[in-house]
Amino acid sequence: MKTANQDIMPITRKINTKGNVEIGGCDLTELANKYGTPLYIFDEATIRSMTRSYKDAFKSYPKMKMVYASKAFMTKAICKIMAQEGFGLDLCSGGEIYTADSSGFNMAETLFNGNNKTFEELTMAIDTGISRISVDNFYELELLNDIAKSKNKEVKILMRITPGIECHTHEYIKTGTIDSKFGFDLTQIDEAVNLITSEYKNLKLCGFHAHIGSQIFEKQVYYDEIGVIFKEIKRVNDKFGLNLNEINIGGGLGIKYTNEDKPISVYDIAETIIKSIEYHCDKYNLEPPYVYIEPGRSIIGTSGVTIYTAGSSKQASNGRRYQAIDGGMSDNIRPSLYQAEYTVEIANKPNETEQEIVTIAGKHCESGDILAKDVKLPIIEEGDVICFYDTGAYGYSMSSNYNRVLKPAAVLVNNGKSDIIINRQTYEELTHNDVIPESIMND
Ligand SMILES: Cc1ncc(COP(=O)(O)O)c(C=O)c1O
Repeated sequence: MKTANQDIMPITRKINTKGNVEIGGCDLTELANKYGTPLYIFDEATIRSMTRSYKDAFKSYPKMKMVYASKAFMTKAICKIMAQEGFGLDLCSGGEIYTADSSGFNMAETLFNGNNKTFEELTMAIDTGISRISVDNFYELELLNDIAKSKNKEVKILMRITPGIECHTHEYIKTGTIDSKFGFDLTQIDEAVNLITSEYKNLKLCGFHAHIGSQIFEKQVYYDEIGVIFKEIKRVNDKFGLNLNEINIGGGLGIKYTNEDKPISVYDIAETIIKSIEYHCDKYNLEPPYVYIEPGRSIIGTSGVTIYTAGSSKQASNGRRYQAIDGGMSDNIRPSLYQAEYTVEIANKPNETEQEIVTIAGKHCESGDILAKDVKLPIIEEGDVICFYDTGAYGYSMSSNYNRVLKPAAVLVNNGKSDIIINRQTYEELTHNDVIPESIMND
């Protein structure tokens, strides 16, 4: 069965009677007028369609635990939606813990990941009652045990391992290979388990965690990853007399940014994952474990679009036409960071014939601030509303104030209604933390 991550556009996207693009029943040009641009727009129906697809696809494996990878896009409203959809949260910083906790999220349904968690963050994780901490390295094992001991608490942990699985995605978003900054190498597992069982008495090891990468289009890598984790579970259980029965297989399912992308459906990976679990339970004679999955991009990516207003343009002498917009690498770093490509549309003229090849440039002081290179579009005029699809994941969450450009607002749309979920930053907020020291005050 097809799922929303396999389409470029949110499920509610259509062209209305005025000839404009609408999402969630809201005309994008009207949203531009009402809230200003740049503006992130999130389609609630697409988000919920993805969470429900995950739930449905895995329903035959009741020990499955879905946790949304908050790093993809997190606000208090998103935490609420995830709670309503029966998802937990994967958190990876003090800021994400704080956001979840202050939104009223049940912290017993959250996990904490990351390769350099600080003393303060680990303390916060214990104090707020996060259910599992995925320990990444020897340094963290000792630090976490010390904190847990000082609080006289037992902390449940998973051990993040690098399973050595190669997936065909961009170098920067591969995480499960041996040469990775994340997790314990397979050769380090025994030493770590030995330390946990003999010295770190305030840590309780429950199982293993791996995350092999992001924007993955293949099923086999999940099958293989689960095989590696099960093999280690069996080996460690036998060698150390343990009964580890939890695995976390990470996130990574891809979405369709352009027509060249061919992502697979949630039902497809669910079938492969369940098959691999059943096969390996049989092979190693293990009880079916609790299995965490941490999708981020595939839950939120397709639901989000960013709209901009067209401003200046330039015809370069080599023939390339540049069209500048009122945002850029500060609201979407992905094209500059890893050559990400997007599908672009003019929201106020989606039916017009595509007549020119144009490069959409951001407003920042960097030549690399190009959001889309050589895309075919109708003639763009000043004031047109330019829509970038699939900006829901790793857009706002990686945004910055480069050039002291304000962070845009974000709205949630549904059934013709739009609600702010993040206010546009103000100049006062931008300079709020600036301090002029006394020593340079006087001329
Ligand atoms: C540990 C972990 N889990 C889950 C995710 C989410 O991945 P995705 O957004 O590709 O589903 C990430 C992303 O980097 C990650 O590092």
